[in-house]
Amino acid sequence: MSHQPSQKTAEAPKASAAPVKAPRLAPPTLDMSVTLAGIPLKNPILAASGTFGYGVEFEDVVSLERLGGFVVKGLSREPMAGNPAPRLYETAAGMLNAIGLQNIGARAFLEEKLPRLRKIKDAVVVANVYGYTTEDYCETIRILNDGEGIAAYELNVSCPNVRYGGITFGQDPYLLSELVANARSASSRPLIVKLSPNVTSIAKMARAAEDAGASAISLVNTFLAMAIDPVTRRPRISNVTAGLSGPAIKPIAVRMVYEASQAVSIPVVGIGGISTAEDVVEFLLAGATAVEVGTANFWDPRACERLVNDLERWCLQQQIEKVSSLTKGLLLS
Ligand SMILES: Cc1cc2nc3c(=O)[nH]c(=O)nc-3n(C[C@H](O)[C@H](O)[C@H](O)COP(=O)(O)O)c2cc1C
Repeated sequence: MSHQPSQKTAEAPKASAAPVKAPRLAPPTLDMSVTLAGIPLKNPILAASGTFGYGVEFEDVVSLERLGGFVVKGLSREPMAGNPAPRLYETAAGMLNAIGLQNIGARAFLEEKLPRLRKIKDAVVVANVYGYTTEDYCETIRILNDGEGIAAYELNVSCPNVRYGGITFGQDPYLLSELVANARSASSRPLIVKLSPNVTSIAKMARAAEDAGASAISLVNTFLAMAIDPVTRRPRISNVTAGLSGPAIKPIAVRMVYEASQAVSIPVVGIGGISTAEDVVEFLLAGATAVEVGTANFWDPRACERLVNDLERWCLQQQIEKVSSLTKGLLLS
């Protein structure tokens, strides 16, 4: 049997008299830019603190200039060694971590990392700041104020894996207020306050941050969690408790972003389990102006760049001309 196409099937179809106009699928332009606390971003996708090193480690794998920005590992006044191993444990659709804010310290960041980051054209670098006390946070900010090329600070008041500081501030509206007001005075840059999900009323904490002078809020940090090895009967993480992140937390994070964005008028950055373009859109519709991507970087180091491409494609398919128009776009009826 011959596999040659017959004369009939190989023939080109005859052109019909009136050409049929193809429906326009994509708008002529797509504006992916957003403005966060006065900072112009190329797109709303940033890498989350603690999951993207100091940015420089990703230089060879990711086109850093394609990202809306990235938040570097939490920086403290002095270097910190973090908690002993094991510090990471994979769970169903998520991950436990109790790194304990291991970092090189604010001064070393300025000397060793920032000069390299400044060479990346148009990179938006956010410095995540941690302290044991209010004075500690303020001193870290004052050190970083000298660094050229930092767009904003993200105040980590929500780390569940350290004994002092962190979450202690993020769970008490009075302590949070005092810290944010002091950090605001010490800071020469926009101040994003990163809230903890381990609270009863996220709206109350969001308002406390706004009233004390935050330029924006970001949420969520990890959920206080725990895992036990049933055979050894020992905790999976040496710190005993740890922070849960990844897709498992996404629906709770979306709910908290929604509640927080209803409570404040400053911009909200959505974080928690984002791994697809649709996840990003969910957070924007819930009220976020931008998002941060964390755990997804562990299984795909190029996750943030992929999400920028996928979000562009999604917007074109959906005839969205301005990504910023999605913020607070949730329809309730
Ligand atoms: C290993 C690891 C380290 C982290 N370190 C920090 C940190 O230094 N400062 C901070 O504010 N958040 C830190 N986080 C929290 C993330 O930035 C993010 O808020 C959280 O993981 C939720 O997002 P995700 O589900 O996309 O990971 C860390 C998270 C992980 C998994």
